[in-house]
Amino acid sequence: MSPEQYLDVALDIAQSAGRMILEARESNALEKSLKNGQELVTTTDVAVDTMISQRLEEAFPGEKRLSEELSPDRDALEQEGALWVVDPIDGTVNFAHGLRHVAVSIAYARDGVIQLGVVHAPFLEETFTAIRGKGAYLNGNALAASSARELDASLIATGFPYRRDSRIPLMRRLTAVLSHCRDVRRNGSAALDLCDVACGRMDAYYESVSPWDFAAGRLIAHEAGARTGHLYRCPEGIPEELYGENLLVSSPHIYDDLRELLRRADAGELNDDR
Ligand code: IPD
Ligand code: CA
Ligand code: CA
Repeated sequence: MSPEQYLDVALDIAQSAGRMILEARESNALEKSLKNGQELVTTTDVAVDTMISQRLEEAFPGEKRLSEELSPDRDALEQEGALWVVDPIDGTVNFAHGLRHVAVSIAYARDGVIQLGVVHAPFLEETFTAIRGKGAYLNGNALAASSARELDASLIATGFPYRRDSRIPLMRRLTAVLSHCRDVRRNGSAALDLCDVACGRMDAYYESVSPWDFAAGRLIAHEAGARTGHLYRCPEGIPEELYGENLLVSSPHIYDDLRELLRRADAGELNDDR
C-alpha cells in the first residue's frame, strides 16, 4: 500500500471517531472518572480508542499500536517496524466541559520515524493531514507555518500536566514567555496546538507530553515548515521523533531565541522585571 492509501484509511477511521465524539456530546451521557488519581477520562475516550484499535487491526493486521487508553505501553517506542500512535480524544478536559477544542490524533511511524499523521477536530470541522515529505494540509488546502521573526510579536501555545505539583516548575517558563512574547494560549489540546503552529495561527508551541499527544501534530507542523525539536538533548533509545519531553516547535526564525529563553528560565537566570 502507498502512503496515500495508508493515510486514506487513517483519515476514514479518524472521521468515524469524530462522529462518535459528536454523538456522545449530543446524547449528553458523559461518564467521567479519574485515572492515576487526577487525570480525567470519559467512557467516550475508551469507546473511541476501542473502535480505532479494531479498525486499525482489520486494516493492518498485526501492526503494533500505542494508544492512550488501550495500549499505553511505551516499550513499543523502542521496537523496530510499524507503529500506530493514537490519541482517541486529545482535549479530554475540553470535551468533558463542553468546549470545542477536541481532536482525534492518529500517526503512523516506521522504525521510529513518523510517516503520516491525521488530526481531526470534529467540533471545529477541521482535519489536518500530512505525509512525510509531501506537505501538510487543512481540509485539503496546503499549510504554511508561521514565519514570525521576533519573539516580541509571537503568540505561544503551551499546556500543563495533570499533576499539579509538576506545574510549579513550569511557572518560570510561563513568566519568561509572558514577559518576552506577545501572549500565551492554553487551548487544551497539544495535537491542535501543533496544528495551529502548522497553520501560522500560533508562532510556537512548547510542552512535555506523551507520544500520542504530539506524534501526528509534530509531523503536520514539520511538513508545514515549522522547526521541530527539543529544549534539551534527547536520551538514547527512544526515537527523537517520538520523544515528548521538552518539545519545542516554532517558526524557524524564532526557534533559537525561544529555546534560549526557555532554557534560561529553567536555569533561573532571568530576572523578569523588564
Ligand atoms: C492533554 C492535552 C493538553 C496537554 C496535556 C495532555 P488529553 O491530552 O493534549 O493540551 O496540555 O498534557 O495530557 O489528556 O486531553 O488527551
Ligand atoms: Ca492527549
Ligand atoms: Ca486523550
